[in-house]
Amino acid sequence: MKSGFLDKLIARLDQVEPAEVQRLVMRLVREKGFLESVFESLQEGVLILDPDGQLTYVNHSASRIFGIDPVKSIGKNLSQAIRGLDWKKLADPERIISRDMEVLYPEQRQLNFYLSPMRSEVAEDEHLLGYVLLVRDITLTRKKEEETAESEKLNALTLLAAGVAHEIGNPLNSLDIHLQLLERKIKKLPAQDQENLSNHLETAQGEIRRLDATLKEFLQAVRPTQPERTPLQIHEILRQTLSLLAPELSERSVKINLDLSPTEPLLELDGNQIKQAFYNLLKNAYQALPPSGGSIDIISRVSDFELTLIIRDHGSGISPEVMGSIFEPYSSTKKSGTGLGLLIVRRIIRQHGGNIEIESHQNQGTSVTISIPRLDKHIRQLESSQDDVIEVDPLAAPPHYPKTP
Ligand SMILES: Nc1ncnc2c1ncn2[C@@H]1O[C@H](COP(=O)(O)OP(=O)(O)OP(=O)(O)O)[C@@H](O)[C@H]1O
Ligand SMILES: [Mg+2]
Repeated sequence: MKSGFLDKLIARLDQVEPAEVQRLVMRLVREKGFLESVFESLQEGVLILDPDGQLTYVNHSASRIFGIDPVKSIGKNLSQAIRGLDWKKLADPERIISRDMEVLYPEQRQLNFYLSPMRSEVAEDEHLLGYVLLVRDITLTRKKEEETAESEKLNALTLLAAGVAHEIGNPLNSLDIHLQLLERKIKKLPAQDQENLSNHLETAQGEIRRLDATLKEFLQAVRPTQPERTPLQIHEILRQTLSLLAPELSERSVKINLDLSPTEPLLELDGNQIKQAFYNLLKNAYQALPPSGGSIDIISRVSDFELTLIIRDHGSGISPEVMGSIFEPYSSTKKSGTGLGLLIVRRIIRQHGGNIEIESHQNQGTSVTISIPRLDKHIRQLESSQDDVIEVDPLAAPPHYPKTP
């Protein structure tokens, strides 16, 4: 029912039959109920405000997103009901405003909202009725955008890697061969000259080896290599990595505390890649410890669906400024670090369908949690919650279920 029609009806209400009035009122009540049901079922948050910014309606999604009570918040000013939204700065009766915002409670979400003024539809009286605030959850879209940007960055790096491999790798090879030739010639010289020149030669060869290692590491970080997966025991790979690192660990007086799950499913793993990931993580952990040494805890747990492994050090921790860029290539706080270690770890874990999370407190330590899904139990029934029940129409296309983290 159009409001123009209603205005005309009200103007001549005294001439309308009571039965007709009753019929129209019933129709209005039904339409109001229908509109409310539509608003309540929307995924978007809808808030209606009067011209002064007081809430007159809050739908179910809006109350969920902002964690506010849909009944108690009625009559409150927007700034009062949702802290962080400044009504005085937002209200503009002439324009639609669109902004992004972040909500940290009850759940961390990225939101985008529109605040749009509503005017009366009567031509001669276009006064302001109030405002509609429409809120969309863009957390997933943002995450997708970040992932796309990240993969574009990696693609650019891969391209660069091909160039670097060609431009630096080949001359390095040839330098190495020439130095070997030089070495042979030096060996034919008198002993005293040999000693002098050998020092220079060794330095040059050492630097070439270092460059070569950096180049290899760089290529490994950015080349999209598919893991070759076979059923393996991850604890065994961990033990192999620990024995590889044993000399460095004992030299630095680092104690390893193992708390491993007694049961261990076979996981589909690329042994070498996982070893590389453990190596990088353990190296980071012991490098964060003071020169006098310290301890690293390694904890593993097995659930029905995944294996979780935590590497926790009690070292320097990561400052909030550094935390944002630890996965960025070449971002290192170490004198001789390449800043590729964690990038490699994340790529390996993701290629195994897993996940990596890092938690750190400055001067207290860092905890890296990696989880790898079990392929023997790769289907799981999701717990149903009021919010994600999807009615399935047997004739319709299969529904798209949300991914669990
Ligand atoms: N366990 C940790 N404790 C403290 N800081 C850490 C830890 N792990 C990573 N970091 C921080 O993250 C940065 C990036 O780590 P990453 O492993 O990618 O590179 P790197 O260790 O600097 O270099 P490389 O791995 O080549 O030796 C480090 O420079 C360090 O500042
Ligand atoms: Mg490292």
